[in-house]
Order: sequence, then structure tokens, then C-alpha cells
Amino acid sequence: MTNPSILILPGDGIGPEVMAEVRKVIDWYGVKRDMVFNVTEDLVGGVAYDAHGTPLHDDTMEKAQQVDAVLLGAVGGPKYDDLDFSVKPERGLLRLRKEMDLFSNLRPAQCFDALADFSSLKRDVVAGLDIMIVRELTSGIYFGEPRGIFEEGNERVGINTQRYTESEIDRVARSAFELARRRGNKVCSMEKANVMESGILWREVVQKVHDEDYQDVELSHMYADAGAMQLCRWPKQFDVIVTDNLFGDLLSDAAAMLTGSLGMLPSASLGAPMANGRPKALYEPVHGSAPDIAGTGKANPIACVLSFAMALRYSFDHGDEATRLEDAVEKVLADGLRTADLLGEDGVNPVSTSQMGDAIVAALDASL
Ligand code: IPM
Ligand code: MG
Repeated sequence: MTNPSILILPGDGIGPEVMAEVRKVIDWYGVKRDMVFNVTEDLVGGVAYDAHGTPLHDDTMEKAQQVDAVLLGAVGGPKYDDLDFSVKPERGLLRLRKEMDLFSNLRPAQCFDALADFSSLKRDVVAGLDIMIVRELTSGIYFGEPRGIFEEGNERVGINTQRYTESEIDRVARSAFELARRRGNKVCSMEKANVMESGILWREVVQKVHDEDYQDVELSHMYADAGAMQLCRWPKQFDVIVTDNLFGDLLSDAAAMLTGSLGMLPSASLGAPMANGRPKALYEPVHGSAPDIAGTGKANPIACVLSFAMALRYSFDHGDEATRLEDAVEKVLADGLRTADLLGEDGVNPVSTSQMGDAIVAALDASL
């Protein structure tokens, strides 16, 4: 059997630094667990634009379609702010999501006990928090037509279109219900059926999928604005939240912040199963490219490391090894190690990006 394949796209800003730590972890699995991955690396985002004049070269797109999993760092940065919209770094990421048809974006918001005091909310509101946001990722207002800036009379008008087909809603709803069955067995669906027809259809289809095939899962519906409010008020009421592309973008940033640090959260973007039964998949940290700290050794590699843990679980059928890696991260935090983003008032000296990576590898060693 050939080794499973991973395409690494470190991208821009802190992407390459955090990815270097993930490489240490991947190497560890090869040496210590006999899990050898066939790893290749390529460009995405601003660095791809610099090299090829496009944020995602066709060859890279082709490679992404072939591998078992793509690991992405981050894209974007001020250097590229003035580029034409069509070649902005973000377009590279959006093309990957769209052409790989990664419709189900899993964004866990989990509060590590050692970090509960870093949340802007009170400890008892967030301690033990474990939510999964399932964001629809390949449709909605991000991709709907018509879109553009048009002349209308003597002024311009900017247009984007929220558009969802029944089958698009159906498949992401199913992925949320399936996931809920392996967790707390509860799904809350969020839209704005009070003002948007696409929201009315969303609610109807989610309810139908539930009634036909997932009656064992508890389902509720909430308007997305009320959902944002409830997330801040009492986030532990949620298990799985399923929502559209734009609401999911906003709600997942809010949920991430509840946990104390955006630098901690991974994500998985999953598509339909390939011939080998594995879903098409791309894994990336929720944080961005953080150009202000790029190259300073301050970046927190944990979100990217945990994204690889999600790959172990969802692409490589190694839930046990994913848990080992998550436990290693938890141990390092419990031991008091902190990157600069996690420092409170207590004057602990921060460790660098690579020291954090080394500590995680040492904790993996200790787990054997
Ligand atoms: C995210 C980001 C992206 C999005 C950007 C970088 C295109 O904010 O993954 O949440 O809006 O989806
Ligand atoms: Mg976002």
C-alpha cells in the first residue's frame, strides 16, 4: 500500500513558521508511530502571486485534487492589499474550497482548561466549552451570481447574491447531524428566515433532513443574530451549530474568541468521499496570516498542529492518534508553556514558535 499523501501549502505571513512545527509533528509520526506520509509542498496566496502572477497555480490546484489531504497555513498580507480583486491571496484559498467542493467546514471552539482565564468572558461561562460550528463553505453569498460593481443611473451599485439550492443545504445538514451523533447529539441551525427567503428554504430543508433521517438527534433553529447573542451569553447550550457561509464566517470568529485565543483553533473543510472512501479535505488554522508578527517567532503553532490532528481523525482514520496529539497540546499548556499571544499579567516568559513545537513533540514522546 502506498503511504497517504499530504500537500502542504504554508502560504503567507506566519503560515510558513507554524507549518514548520507541524512538519516536526508529521516527522515524529513517521519515526515513532510508523505512520509515514508522502509530503509535498507548494505555494498559495501572496507568495504564489509573487512567483506565478496568480494566488493558485493550476498545477497546485491539480495536486490538491490528487492528495489525501491538504494542509494550509494562511494567506494574505498588506503587501497584497492593492492587487486586483481577482488575484488577491484570498482568491487562492476560495478557489481550493470551491474546486475541491469542500462544502462542510468544521470549526471547533474548544476551551482548554489552562486557558479559561484568557477568555473575555467569565471562567464559568467558558470552562469546558466544546462547540462545533459546521459552516457551509462552497455556496451562499460568497459565490452567488449576479455579483459585481455595476453602473446604475449616475452611480455605481455593489451586488452580491445569497443563493442556496436544496441539495446544497441537504448535504451540509447531513454532515452536521452525522457529526452530532458522535458528540452531544444536538444540532442548532442558524439562518435569518425572518428576513431572507434563502433562510426560509434553509430552515425547511434542515428540518426535512432531520425528520426523515436523524430524528434521534435533537434539532433547534435560531435566527443568526440571536445565535450570536446566545453564543456570548451562554455558549455551553450548543453542541453542533450548522449555518451558511457568511453567518458561519462571523459566528466562528466570535466562537473562537470565546475560547481565549484565536491562535488555538483548527478547522477542517470536507467534501464528498473520493474513490478510496476518504473525503476530499483541506485543513487550516482559523487564524489568519498575522503579518504584524510574521518572522518574529511569536506565532502560536497550536492551531496548525491541531489542524493536523483533525486530519489524522477525519482523513486518516486515526482518531486515537489525533487524541494523542490533542492530549500532548493540552499537557504542554497545563505545564505552563505559553506563546506570546497567550500571556496574561502573571509575567511568564513566552516561548517561541519553535520552542512550542519542540515541547509538543516532547509531550508526544512522553505519551509512548
Ligand atoms: C475564513 C476567512 C476567509 C473567509 C477569507 C480569508 C477568505 O475569513 O476562513 O474565515 O472569509 O472565508
Ligand atoms: Mg473568517
